[in-house]
Amino acid sequence: MSKAVQIRQHGGPEQMELADVQVGDPGPGEIRIRHKAVGLNFIDVYHRTGLYQLPMPATLGMEGSGIVEAVGQGVTHLKAGDRAAYASQPPGSYSEVRVMPAKTVCKLPDAIDFDTGAAMMLKGLTAQYLLKRTQPQGGLKEGDFVLFHAAAGGVGLIAVQWAKAMGLRLIGTAGSDEKCQLAKSLGAEFMVNYSKEDFKDKVKEITGGKGVKVVYDSVGKDTWDKSLDCLSPFGLMASFGNASGPVPPFAPGILGVKGSLYVTRQTLFTHIATREATQQMADDLFAAVTSGKVKIRIDQKFPLAQVREAHQALEARKTTGCTILTL
Ligand SMILES: NC(=O)c1ccc[n+]([C@@H]2O[C@H](COP(=O)([O-])OP(=O)(O)OC[C@H]3O[C@@H](n4cnc5c(N)ncnc54)[C@H](OP(=O)(O)O)[C@@H]3O)[C@@H](O)[C@H]2O)c1
Repeated sequence: MSKAVQIRQHGGPEQMELADVQVGDPGPGEIRIRHKAVGLNFIDVYHRTGLYQLPMPATLGMEGSGIVEAVGQGVTHLKAGDRAAYASQPPGSYSEVRVMPAKTVCKLPDAIDFDTGAAMMLKGLTAQYLLKRTQPQGGLKEGDFVLFHAAAGGVGLIAVQWAKAMGLRLIGTAGSDEKCQLAKSLGAEFMVNYSKEDFKDKVKEITGGKGVKVVYDSVGKDTWDKSLDCLSPFGLMASFGNASGPVPPFAPGILGVKGSLYVTRQTLFTHIATREATQQMADDLFAAVTSGKVKIRIDQKFPLAQVREAHQALEARKTTGCTILTL
């Protein structure tokens, strides 16, 4: 048996209940993992509200770390007793123990503790694929400007540090002066408090009117239009989230008018579809973290039983950096 946070219908934080669930043995290609810590992500909010629909009842959670208890037939990269961490489908990490596909579970280097492992996999692999695998025509090179929204959040603070290590000139946005200060202290060259300043005007000013090569936009509805205006000709609008709501439908003609722009909507799960790709990206992330280039800030911890408060804080924009649920 395992304690697990489940929902029986989509809705507010009150839908999440701690339940006792049966956990079996891993089947072919699966492992059973006993969690040491669980990562909180904005996708958990979309799963809870129903923006992304789940079959019911559903255990939430896409990220965790722990100790492998058993492996199923055909699993060769893990064995019982291994320290491990993951970002993966299907949801289910808000639990003490679970059975899950082994494909996206990676051995955790000894130098990385369980809390950090649980905080960094989904958010760190996302920063990895955005900065390294989601680039404009001709790629990104040292000195290029990029705009990264919600730069003081979980994905944001990892991306800020990584972009600096890559020599990129990152302009970040955040919803308060304190958040802007924090992101700057970790390497954002410029920060704009978009709750009181027009980020489009600031980007034009900072780049001398030229605009940025890429906008990484996880805010969605509220930032979409102005983000397109921040791009230089042939620039890339990389949409990857909907914290303020989904981007409304738009006419592609607008992309021509604004400078022959490119638009993409990315999701981590396409990038980590295979064991090989997952491990390659995770190795890059582990190297960035163990070398000290990227520090994983865990600014909030909640016991698993207080998951409702954790969701409320995330949705109310009261968090910075990563948040974990403790067991
Ligand atoms: N597609 C993918 O592969 C992928 C993978 C991971 C994450 N994501 C997306 O990336 C984003 C960041 O994820 P995260 O888990 O690290 O969360 P987070 O950035 O720690 O939290 C979301 C942040 O979005 C900003 N925000 C702007 N408008 C908001 C609104 N109306 N309501 C709530 N927040 C708002 C807030 O920062 P300010 O107060 O500074 O505005 C808030 O702190 C999310 O949109 C998530 O869905 C996408």
